[in-house]
Amino acid sequence: MLKNDLLLRAARGEKVERTPVWLMRQAGRILPEYREVRAKMGGFKELVENPEFACEVTIQPVDHLGVDAAIIFSDILVIPEAMGLPYQMVEKRGPWFEKTIKCAADIDRMVVAEADGVRYTIDAIAMTKKELDGRVPLIGFAGAPWTIFSYMIEGSGSKTFSNAKKFLYTEPVLAHKLLEKITLSTINYLKGQIEAGADIIQIFDSWAGILSPEQYKEFALPYIARICDAIDEVPITVFAKGAYFVRKELGELNCQTIGLDWNMDVAESRAMIGNSKTLQGNIDPCVLYSDDETIVTKTKEMLTAFGPNRHIANLGHGVYPDIDPRKVKLFVDTVKEFRF
Ligand code: CP3
Repeated sequence: MLKNDLLLRAARGEKVERTPVWLMRQAGRILPEYREVRAKMGGFKELVENPEFACEVTIQPVDHLGVDAAIIFSDILVIPEAMGLPYQMVEKRGPWFEKTIKCAADIDRMVVAEADGVRYTIDAIAMTKKELDGRVPLIGFAGAPWTIFSYMIEGSGSKTFSNAKKFLYTEPVLAHKLLEKITLSTINYLKGQIEAGADIIQIFDSWAGILSPEQYKEFALPYIARICDAIDEVPITVFAKGAYFVRKELGELNCQTIGLDWNMDVAESRAMIGNSKTLQGNIDPCVLYSDDETIVTKTKEMLTAFGPNRHIANLGHGVYPDIDPRKVKLFVDTVKEFRF
């Protein structure tokens, strides 16, 4: 039994006493307590692959920030690795893949991953669930197939992901073949997370906004729909950053919550998405660099714009690494103290 199930009730459109709040990328990135554990472990991957430590840093934001949910400490790139494409996390530079996908034979070599291929995260979920002891729900997650695909082709982060987009234009049949394998792997992985105790799932389509609407409807949306259709055990949140051009279609997905980034107008999004979904978001993470008064004002403006029902408070994207944890706590506390 959950002692605080605000997030789940808000996701399902049930009545809540107040708006629940958590932050994308709250585990790691900002807390000094995270940096200490990370320094002890040597690196990011070591942390992700060690369930005890992953559990510890997952719970840190619940203890230190008072958020209404924990999100399991892992990364979206564990899926390419489980499919046969290992990644490295290069200090200060981000993810890097030694091998990338270039041709049909490369795609044939990729396996459809089972949840067991990401055993360490599944174990971390089970451990965290036990350790949380019902204090708040635990969020499981995965990257959306398009975003995972873009890393597998590109091999690292990129401003344009033009190699990945080029692949869609020049090798559409192969692209679908790889997206299919990623989708099946993701479904297996998410089902494993739910079995291990994840209370709600978020799908991150971080690079949604770089596709054209036509490409998004052909190469991204149908695969997210497949994942949503395959999972009915727990609520699902779809966060497609920059995908303002398919908000109506996102509203038709078989999921409970749609994440909004800070460029998406709240009233306009509500009108496009309709009343049958919860909305999550969406202040600009950079607001948290402002003075206290501005943070409080902007947070209250956001809450008022969304209204009392079907809203989960969050930023419009992940919290940035150099934001002062005290400012993050001010954002969280402002949401928790606000009443309509
Ligand atoms: O939300 C959480 O705090 C839970 C853990 C989590 C991480 N990555 C840990 C992490 C989650 C949900 C992710 C998702 C993720 N990873 C996304 C989608 C969300 C988004 O921000 O759009 C993406 C695109 C990635 C890929 C990735 N992982 C990049 C580009 C980087 C480098 C830059 C950075 O710090 O985000 C990572 C590394 C990473 N993943 C870190 C953490 C805590 C930083 C590693 C470190 O400690 O140095």
